[in-house]
Amino acid sequence: MTTGNDDYRDSGLEFAPGFVIGSATASYQIEGAVHDDGRGPSIWDTFSHTPGKIVDGDTGDVADDHYHRLESDLDLMASLGLEAYRFSIAWPRIQPLGSGEPVQAGLDFYGRLVDGLLARGITPIATLYHWDLPQALEDRGGWTNRETAYLFADYAAIVGAALGDRVATWTTLNEPWCSAYLGYGSGAHAPGRTEPLAALQAVHHLNLAHGLATQKLRAVVTNDPEFSVTLNFHVLRGDDASSPEAIRRIDALANRAFTGPLLRGEYPADLLADTAAITDWSFVHEGDLDTIRQPIDFLGVNYYSTATVRMWDGSSPRENADGHKDVGGSPWPGSTDVEFQVQAGPYTAMGWNIAPDGLEDLLVSLHEQFPATPLVITENGAAFDDVVVDGAVHDPERVDYLRRHFTAAHRAIARGVDLRGYLVWSLLDNFEWGYGFSKRFGIVHVDYDSQVRTVKDSGAWVAELIGSRRIPG
Ligand code: FCB
Repeated sequence: MTTGNDDYRDSGLEFAPGFVIGSATASYQIEGAVHDDGRGPSIWDTFSHTPGKIVDGDTGDVADDHYHRLESDLDLMASLGLEAYRFSIAWPRIQPLGSGEPVQAGLDFYGRLVDGLLARGITPIATLYHWDLPQALEDRGGWTNRETAYLFADYAAIVGAALGDRVATWTTLNEPWCSAYLGYGSGAHAPGRTEPLAALQAVHHLNLAHGLATQKLRAVVTNDPEFSVTLNFHVLRGDDASSPEAIRRIDALANRAFTGPLLRGEYPADLLADTAAITDWSFVHEGDLDTIRQPIDFLGVNYYSTATVRMWDGSSPRENADGHKDVGGSPWPGSTDVEFQVQAGPYTAMGWNIAPDGLEDLLVSLHEQFPATPLVITENGAAFDDVVVDGAVHDPERVDYLRRHFTAAHRAIARGVDLRGYLVWSLLDNFEWGYGFSKRFGIVHVDYDSQVRTVKDSGAWVAELIGSRRIPG
């Protein structure tokens, strides 16, 4: 039973000490400095430099220039009182070609980042892979090639040996759904391939990479860190007679294709059946499922909005509102006959519907499915068209979005969910993948000409929440 406002606009709700509140970013989205210190090209460098792939032709060449502004960005985090900072490590800074000897300067950069966080009392949460695969590995098949999983584990061992005395939390992968289905199925993300079989191979090799990397990390770290993986769940709605079937299919492809092997040690039978016309899944080798199901300390949950589905009738104009850029290919191998309906607003600047009830439902559902697995919200936030006026950014819609989603999180905790923390996406406005710099998710505004950072009202709101431990009034 839920109590509080129907619209999730509660205030005053208190988060217990130990519930970690912070913010998140990712390497390619903020760092820039793509040629510094021996960094090799990633698939996102190639993709963003390919005409037509990114809105306005934007690239991450400079982005937030965070690589050169590390100290002042760390001070900014401290000024907001962040308890934790989730960042990702760029594999091509560590191994420019995706294998071989590490580049010391790359390791040193992340060493300075971790030390700077610890010096400011901020917990470092490191993600090993937030989509910037070394291009050299894509040239050998990328995530369709089983070897990539083993090379990823080698990379994890290198980073673990360098930072494994200080990083508090390791996350292997960020949103393998996007890497596999947007990267190899729809083509909206790098490397931009549109092959249903490749997408499913990528799913498995990413899962395998998680398992192998977790084993290697565990063997080399010397502190007592937490291990995790972050998934972006599809929270599915539907009110048509065909919706239950559509929901089952998308839940299998998008959610259970990951939670099944990662947490249960099996691929769902219905997923294998739904995709049988594409593959017999013989790329899953004997022993892989044992490797993939590694004990984790929590599951990272990224949530932004819901999806409403039904089976397409084959004749009426087809709705395709799955929240992802439509560039021709499908991110739904084997289930391209599922229709994603336009949902009721309000919407963020991404066109994503705002639905805090979806977050509450998701957290409760995950807790019911995996009662022994603690949860952390590793991303939640919203893009709006912010402007700086007289040195300030008033973003009441983002404050409202965050209020409603923190309320949802609080309600889930009240219903017994073991939710350990909440990291707002994002600390800084940044390179929003196929949308380039046209979408601003930051709680801190970035002027891309001057690189001036301006804390938005939402940033001040988050700081107040952390300071008081209560949802501000
Ligand atoms: C997630 C990504 C993150 C950011 C947000 C808006 O899918 O993990 O990098 O782009 O969406």
